[in-house]
Amino acid sequence: MQKIKFYNGEDIPLELHKVRVVQKLHLVPIERRLEALHEGGFNTFRLSTKDVFLDMLTDSGTNAMSDNQLSSMMHADDAYAGSQSFMRLRNAVEKVLGKKYLLPVHQGRAAENILAKTYVRKGNLIPMNYHFTTTLAHISENGGRIAELLYDESYVINSDYPFKGNINIEKLAEVIEKEGAKNIPFIRMEASTNLIGGQPFSVQNLRDVRSLADKHGIRILLDASLLGENAYLIKMREEEFKNNSLGDILQIITEMADIVYFSARKISSSRGGGICTNDENIYKEMETLIPMYEGFLTYGGISMREIESMAVGLYETLDETVICQSPNFIKYLVDELDKNGIPVVKPAGVLGAHVNAMDVCSHIPQSQYPAGALAAALFLISGVRGMERGSISNQRDENGNETYADMELLRLAVPRRVFTLSQVKYVIDRMTWLYHNRALIGGLKFVYEPAVLRFFMGGLEPVNDWTHKLIAKFKADFGESL
Ligand code: F0G
Repeated sequence: MQKIKFYNGEDIPLELHKVRVVQKLHLVPIERRLEALHEGGFNTFRLSTKDVFLDMLTDSGTNAMSDNQLSSMMHADDAYAGSQSFMRLRNAVEKVLGKKYLLPVHQGRAAENILAKTYVRKGNLIPMNYHFTTTLAHISENGGRIAELLYDESYVINSDYPFKGNINIEKLAEVIEKEGAKNIPFIRMEASTNLIGGQPFSVQNLRDVRSLADKHGIRILLDASLLGENAYLIKMREEEFKNNSLGDILQIITEMADIVYFSARKISSSRGGGICTNDENIYKEMETLIPMYEGFLTYGGISMREIESMAVGLYETLDETVICQSPNFIKYLVDELDKNGIPVVKPAGVLGAHVNAMDVCSHIPQSQYPAGALAAALFLISGVRGMERGSISNQRDENGNETYADMELLRLAVPRRVFTLSQVKYVIDRMTWLYHNRALIGGLKFVYEPAVLRFFMGGLEPVNDWTHKLIAKFKADFGESL
């Protein structure tokens, strides 16, 4: 897509859509935000949206829908079996993801449940670029282990390495050699690797993974939840593909995967999810689990209206003006935070900006959860809800010990076509103020800790009275401003 230049030289992303449906937001006073934090156990998942100003928790199910998606919902064919809406979805999957067999599921992690139940056995090893929280939970539940095989550069926060989501090919070869192909049901590639900052892999890397997989007869499983943006960054960063359309790049990638699964809450700005393949045997292996866990094979627990909007959303993944919006806003956000000295994951990826809490809160030990503390502090002083992506999002090992995360990140998600530029500027302003006052942020401790996926419902509290000191400084600097 051509860059649109401004006469005044400003380098800002220009929205190529207009806003036709709006939702009122509330910016509540800082005292109420403190109460809300206490009520929600200092866990941004447990906040109520009535207290949230800009919801940057996730892009999952929060991307703006297009007029065509909304209108498609009106011709949904409500039938338990054989619905025409499902046929339209299957066509869209074949056109966009190049796979003709489709198993519908109610969301991405439901696909992971079916896949892990079908293919992961006790003691199996799943090599991957990096885990996602729900993926790891399903693999572990079925007795499997994972091997995360990124290059060292991928863990460097301040970097210009364009494909931090690449699998380290030498390490992959070693792991296969050591484990034996028989113990490896598949290699998992996650597009726009979420937990390291929404970082893409390159086509060349996937080609290298494919040739190793072929040599050993191992399948490749692609998590395509953020595939559109990964394809966009390939177009921007991988010389060979600069003149290809997103559609071309999607085909090239999905052709190399034996099984593709996705969260439609992400890739198609709708709800639901799916598992797709061109191999009838693979389809058959999972077929019976869909009616058991999800719903009949032509709806998979998703409403027909959502199935219609998923089909349209998948076609819209081919439109660069739709797909570039979020990464371009993220790039603006990351560049401005970086200019203000705030440590952020670079290069800018997809999904959101990722602030390095380990650095911002270097005075808070990992045992007091710096990323969780930063998420709470930002909400307190701005009403902006981000997500902790650090040690709270990790699970304890089998002996109950903490497994500290490689990175302590505060993720500020930028869902597709939801926020305006002035709202993004507000985030930059408040984050910069918080950075200048970072010494006032203190740690957190658990008061309620679920054993699995503790970050969702866990409850924490501040280790001392740091929230009051932060509020006092906010009042001194902003006066009566919200
Ligand atoms: N895979 C990836 C790469 C994801 O980012 C997600 C969800 C899933 C699988 C699971 O899909 O939510 O539909 O069950 N990511 C969300 C997030 C939750 O906020 O990053 P799901």
